[in-house]
Amino acid sequence: MSEPQRESSIARLVRSIGTLGFGVVVQAAIYPLRKWWGCRRFATKPPVAAPWTAPGAVREWRLEGSALTLSCERADVQLAALSPDIVRVRLRPDCQFPPPFSYALACEEADWPPCAVSVDETPAALVMRTPALHVEVSKADAAIRFLTPDGRALDADAAPMAWAGERVALARVLPADAHVYGFGEKALPLDKRGLRMELYNFDCNGYGPGDDPLYMSIPVYMLLHGGLACGVFFDNSYRAVADVGASDPDTLRLEADGGELRYYFFAGPAPADVLRQYTDLTGRMELPPLWTLGYHQNRWSYYPDAREFRQRRIPCDAIHLDIHYMDGYRCFTWHPERFPDPPGLVRHLHERGFKVVGMVDPGIKADRKYAVCRSGLERGVFCKYPDGRLFKGPVWPGLCYFPDFSNPDARAWWGDQYKALLDVGLDGFWNDMNEPAIFGAGPETMPDCVRFAWEGHGADFRQAHNVYGMLMVRGSCEGLRRLRPERRTLVISRSGWAGLQRYGSHWTGDNRSDWPTLANVIPMVLTLGLSGVGFTGPDTGGFSGSPSPELLVRWNQLSVFTPFFRNHTAVWTKDQEP
Ligand code: NOJ
Repeated sequence: MSEPQRESSIARLVRSIGTLGFGVVVQAAIYPLRKWWGCRRFATKPPVAAPWTAPGAVREWRLEGSALTLSCERADVQLAALSPDIVRVRLRPDCQFPPPFSYALACEEADWPPCAVSVDETPAALVMRTPALHVEVSKADAAIRFLTPDGRALDADAAPMAWAGERVALARVLPADAHVYGFGEKALPLDKRGLRMELYNFDCNGYGPGDDPLYMSIPVYMLLHGGLACGVFFDNSYRAVADVGASDPDTLRLEADGGELRYYFFAGPAPADVLRQYTDLTGRMELPPLWTLGYHQNRWSYYPDAREFRQRRIPCDAIHLDIHYMDGYRCFTWHPERFPDPPGLVRHLHERGFKVVGMVDPGIKADRKYAVCRSGLERGVFCKYPDGRLFKGPVWPGLCYFPDFSNPDARAWWGDQYKALLDVGLDGFWNDMNEPAIFGAGPETMPDCVRFAWEGHGADFRQAHNVYGMLMVRGSCEGLRRLRPERRTLVISRSGWAGLQRYGSHWTGDNRSDWPTLANVIPMVLTLGLSGVGFTGPDTGGFSGSPSPELLVRWNQLSVFTPFFRNHTAVWTKDQEP
């Protein structure tokens, strides 16, 4: 077995200068300072350490349609049945219930057919009944229990929902026989019981088993106990922590840094029902192009010549182009010397039976001579600080602007840029670095104060961060469906959030070339599937480091069974083609 490969900081610095160029390394080194400086003027006061507050006793209740609203001593709680087996729960200390907005949802509330609900009152509790679920709320403290219609326990609050300043928390009972699955992209065992995980998308170059968080967080889990399955989608995009019995073996606690406490409960009762209920809510992937199910070959980066695959009769359906096809890492352009004839190259590969997939990053080089940058500036699509100044951060091309993908106009503009690549004949796309990753002393991202349109509702980066990558893929996919409606789309994304599956598929980023990481592929891919993202797979052979011949062979043997099967490796590793 090969040992995990570790690199000293000096070696990393030397490699970074070689890969990026001195200018970008300097910009990366000063980015933390720029970020601090940019944010200083907008910094609100540090959050006051507030005590946790619970709603208190239920004073009054009313049933309107399928929504039961409870007025409690210190907050209102609302339970709304979207269908007999999906109930939404909201906690509002301000007692207002504006229509909830979330990027996760596949349809509007009004699109759900009406659901019959009744409420029974006993001296101690209110019981809301649908044909598939009973929800019991204690009148003493608004703690909630979910039961099957024949009275079997599904899930229950370990303590009532609570808030502390801007933070919100949900605490559920973890029965002794319970197993817990989900939470998106995690290099962790399949059963998450006993683990504490962060839900914060993160550029984690060279990760292996146990590293957390990774690129895609999805705040959904499935609970299996007593022969029954149920699920919870915590519809909150702020940085959150999921503590699945790590601090207290009997409690599953979800705590987010801000936002409304809102979750959806799925009644199961079988695991497949939970997944159906979750994807009724957040959507399912469209059929991918057939060729995407085959073998894909990549490395960072090809100036491709794929002859050997055919001469050696190695099946291969797609060749991927990493960032070096671009002109100075400017998205939607071609490098004039490395790729002097892009349509000719793509035609050549097509004639040999390869589809061609091109990379697109979110950072647009801040360069007024670059047409995409100019048009983005004219359309006002880039992210800004609260005072209207444009945010800039270093990535591959140097300082970049970043589209605000929560602005529908920016998404439309972004989608239109793909015309340049479709005209050349590219078949599919991958969206990388969309956490969004920014270069700093370590992995960095935008400052919290950067503003987002959030479909007109307004938000800051604290709320937008986890959703940024998914919205980039949404802009890409909607553009491709518009520009090329006759063909199915492939957009493979590194980052994502709940509902990503409606727009794109996923690969699991910069994994390590070692045996433990290979073994971890199985729980990772299954966990992603249980979180609604079915079309995914690892960099076969591993990205960071070079596999032994045996490791590469074994990895190929496993990847035959993952939906996405692509060999890929980093720019500084040995050749990794089969
Ligand atoms: C990071 C991606 O995860 C990796 O797959 C890619 O090769 C590099 N960026 C360079 O584009």
